[in-house]
Amino acid sequence: MILKSSILQVLLWGLQGAIALSPRAPPQSSSRVPRITPNSTNGDVNYTAPYFPLLGFEQYAGNPILSPNPKHNWESAYLYNPTAIVVDDTVWMLYRAQNKSKTSSVGLAWSKNGINFTRYDKPVLYPTEPYEIPGGCEDPRVVRVNGTFYMTYTGYDGIAARLCLATSTDLVHWEKHGPILPDTLDVVYDWQNPLNTYTPRKGWSKSGSILNEAQSDGTYRMIYGDSFLYQANSTDLIHWNYPQGGLPYAAHLNPWEQAIMESGPPGNQDQGCYVYNGVATGPGGYTSTQYSTGQMLLDIARFPNGPPVARLETPILQPTSVHEVTGQVDNVVFTEGLVQYHGKWFMYFGQGDAFLGVATAPVQP
Ligand SMILES: *[C@@H]1O[C@H](CO)[C@@H](O)[C@H](O)[C@H]1NC(C)=O
Ligand SMILES: *[C@@H]1O[C@H](CO)[C@@H](O)[C@H](O)[C@H]1NC(C)=O
Ligand SMILES: *[C@@H]1O[C@H](CO)[C@@H](O)[C@H](O)[C@H]1NC(C)=O
Ligand SMILES: *[C@@H]1O[C@H](CO)[C@@H](O)[C@H](O)[C@H]1NC(C)=O
Ligand SMILES: *[C@@H]1O[C@H](CO)[C@@H](O)[C@H](O)[C@H]1NC(C)=O
Ligand SMILES: *[C@@H]1O[C@H](CO)[C@@H](O)[C@H](O)[C@H]1NC(C)=O
Repeated sequence: MILKSSILQVLLWGLQGAIALSPRAPPQSSSRVPRITPNSTNGDVNYTAPYFPLLGFEQYAGNPILSPNPKHNWESAYLYNPTAIVVDDTVWMLYRAQNKSKTSSVGLAWSKNGINFTRYDKPVLYPTEPYEIPGGCEDPRVVRVNGTFYMTYTGYDGIAARLCLATSTDLVHWEKHGPILPDTLDVVYDWQNPLNTYTPRKGWSKSGSILNEAQSDGTYRMIYGDSFLYQANSTDLIHWNYPQGGLPYAAHLNPWEQAIMESGPPGNQDQGCYVYNGVATGPGGYTSTQYSTGQMLLDIARFPNGPPVARLETPILQPTSVHEVTGQVDNVVFTEGLVQYHGKWFMYFGQGDAFLGVATAPVQP
């Protein structure tokens, strides 16, 4: 009996050790948000454009930088997939949070050093529409054009994922514009099937990253997709023209992206350095279903004509830490935020669909 209970004790200590992996600092929450006005400035004052490839990202040793907050139902279970933007010399973050029944909402946080964030204690976007109930509002990506924030997110009704859009001038109050690619024709690549079938999936769309500068023809561009990467165009950022079938902008190429390609951070036109996400099928040294983050080079000057000019063969970020290897979904890093701030690049990503981490890289000289 004594032996058994001491074994139990050791097991309990082990468990406490595992729990202690979560950061000890209590979440910084606030009922007030710093005010953004039409005069608020975009980006870092010393912004330096990168050249391809943008390398050298290292995981911050203190990850995760944000964790679920048990005090708020809406963000009590999982907190991940952040987008980020610099306004008024502050890093603003929108992130996906889930409660215990896995309903997703979008939360807001801000930081003066890129690492320590204060969160607004209410969600800024939460399910209200039939296409968002019961799954919720997932995976935000935000840009700011002419003083208006444009956020793409996934509305999930439990059956279909639909890429939706919302606008705001202060990041707190959002107007929903509904699904923006209603008739899109996606495909599911059933790579576990020996015949490698591509099954059409009508009306399913996800992961829209808008480039915030208009092209020379006056149109804005968005890269989206949940199988291959496709491209849509718009003159007002609200109404989008998109292909229904046909060749994708970028198809699978590297071993780590053979199952799925999904877009990454929006906004950063950054000389064509485009960060995106991919899922592996198994071969090539990558675990089957592993999500990684990689990079390609877009040709901005003749952007409508894919494919990308170049791609890195290997990811710039892969799941390595315990939060990434074991999570709500195992073996996941998923990047939706990239900003240059105070002389560094900050890349924000979800860890195991459960926590939120950052990796930093020096600005290239
Ligand atoms: C924006 O700046 C202008 C000119 O400095 C000023 O008149 C106006 O009050 C400012 N607006 C806000 C909302 O701060
Ligand atoms: C900043 O965040 C890190 C990582 O979460 C944490 O270790 C540190 O205590 C925080 N610092 C402050 C001042 O809150
Ligand atoms: C999660 O949020 C949804 C939407 O607000 C709500 O209907 C549901 O009851 C919540 N789940 C839990 C376990 O509180
Ligand atoms: C932003 O302002 C520019 C210059 O006035 C204009 O050409 C462009 O269409 C505007 N974009 C949007 C999305 O309103
Ligand atoms: C916009 O997208 C539509 C649908 O894919 C396409 O037919 C059209 O050529 C695109 N327009 C431009 C200017 O690229
Ligand atoms: C921008 O660079 C200047 C010159 O190096 C420096 O003094 C200033 O602090 C920088 N500003 C920010 C916001 O990093």
